[in-house]
Amino acid sequence: MAFPEGFGWGASTAAYQVEGGWDADGKGPSVWDTFTHQGGGRVFKNQTGDVACGSYTLWEEDLKCIKQLGLTHYHFSLSWSRLLPDGTTGFINQKGIDYYNKIIDDLLTNGVTPIVTLYHFDLPQALEDQGGWLSEAIIESFDEYAQFCFSTFGDRVKQWITINEPNLFALLTYDLGVFPPGVPHHGTGGYQATHNLIKAHARSWHSYDSLFRKGQKGMVSLALFAGWVEPADPNSASDQEAAQRAMAFHLDIFAKPIFIDGDYPEVVKSQVASMSKKQGYPSSRLPEFTEEEKRMIKGTADFFAVQYYSSRLVKYRENDKGELSFLRDVEVEVFPDPSWIKLDWVCVVPWGLRKLLNYIKDTYNNPVIYITENGFPQGDPASLDDTQRWEYFRQTFQELFKAIQLDKINLKVYCAWSLLDNFEWTQGYSIRFGLFHVDFDNPTRPRVPYTSAKEYAKIIRNNGLEGHL
Ligand code: NOJ
Repeated sequence: MAFPEGFGWGASTAAYQVEGGWDADGKGPSVWDTFTHQGGGRVFKNQTGDVACGSYTLWEEDLKCIKQLGLTHYHFSLSWSRLLPDGTTGFINQKGIDYYNKIIDDLLTNGVTPIVTLYHFDLPQALEDQGGWLSEAIIESFDEYAQFCFSTFGDRVKQWITINEPNLFALLTYDLGVFPPGVPHHGTGGYQATHNLIKAHARSWHSYDSLFRKGQKGMVSLALFAGWVEPADPNSASDQEAAQRAMAFHLDIFAKPIFIDGDYPEVVKSQVASMSKKQGYPSSRLPEFTEEEKRMIKGTADFFAVQYYSSRLVKYRENDKGELSFLRDVEVEVFPDPSWIKLDWVCVVPWGLRKLLNYIKDTYNNPVIYITENGFPQGDPASLDDTQRWEYFRQTFQELFKAIQLDKINLKVYCAWSLLDNFEWTQGYSIRFGLFHVDFDNPTRPRVPYTSAKEYAKIIRNNGLEGHL
């Protein structure tokens, strides 16, 4: 099962989850620094990313892991407040620039292509204090930061992700309040943030397009989280509609405006409008784009970046009490098939990824697709011999092979989450997604390959799997 020549094999990390050095060399605080330092039990054992994997000082160790795997691509994120401590270009932290320059240069020297995410959940606290993603002012701030990154690193970085999983992020931060700033706005905050995230992404894509593309010749997209959903009863029309609504509310809500026509899916607009009406709102809780904004948003991605972990079954569940909630606006119940293997919140459903890729191909005009994250967690402590987990990766690669060969999916790059065990947000260090084990009790944070890392290295070396379909 040989993959197409030039197929990209990568691994991913994100700044706050691996770097540590939270206040080193002039870095400003991000919302995650504030949130974890406040304690209060919102993060597992009140753990923090203060040190994490220590990648801020241990980049050379990370590079060794990357070389050991033989990765062709490394996907990482920049810490906005390490570069611009108060979020603006009013003060630029040269030490931050130096750090990322070194990473980028070392990668290129070793023949590894960087895929760089500008923003992976860690907003500078100074910008959160001005309203964060609930405020329209963030669009201007994000564009200023993006332009700064394009002009500083874009001579060498050609594959950009503006925002990581804005769809999940909007929900967890401003709607549910489980991510910083930790204040829920049920049924309103998620949509308001979504609106500003889409506009900020589109604005920065236009900045790249008009100011940098000609000279730098790179590509810009955003990385959308997507699960796959199956109707609980495939013969039930209402379950089928429920599955369509679930896809619309979690994936298409971002993808349709950006890839198709600048506007939200009809079903999202009608659901939220009718719920809002029942609840006595004078207008829909989902904001509307102006015609000019729609034109600005449409077509602002050069490839489709998707992050897949899990699948679920769905069925219709009426919001009969008119609950005010982003999740209840969808009117679905979501649950795992009892026959699926469940690792923490991740159900092992490799064929779900193939179906998702087909959905993207059919819905979004056969785009070039990058899988910028995919992986399987282990509990803590985790055994270095993770043969079982490797089997899930192997099955996933088989599905990708079928997707490319049989379904003609335009898949170019696969990145495993994650290069290293790291800080898994509110779950702290309690679950481990790494290809390399990190000992968080040891001050030198040694990295040791799991069996999966050794096996992945073989796949990369052979550009595919042994055997036939
Ligand atoms: C999504 C996020 O982008 C990443 O930060 C997280 O660690 C993984 N998925 C696993 O949950």
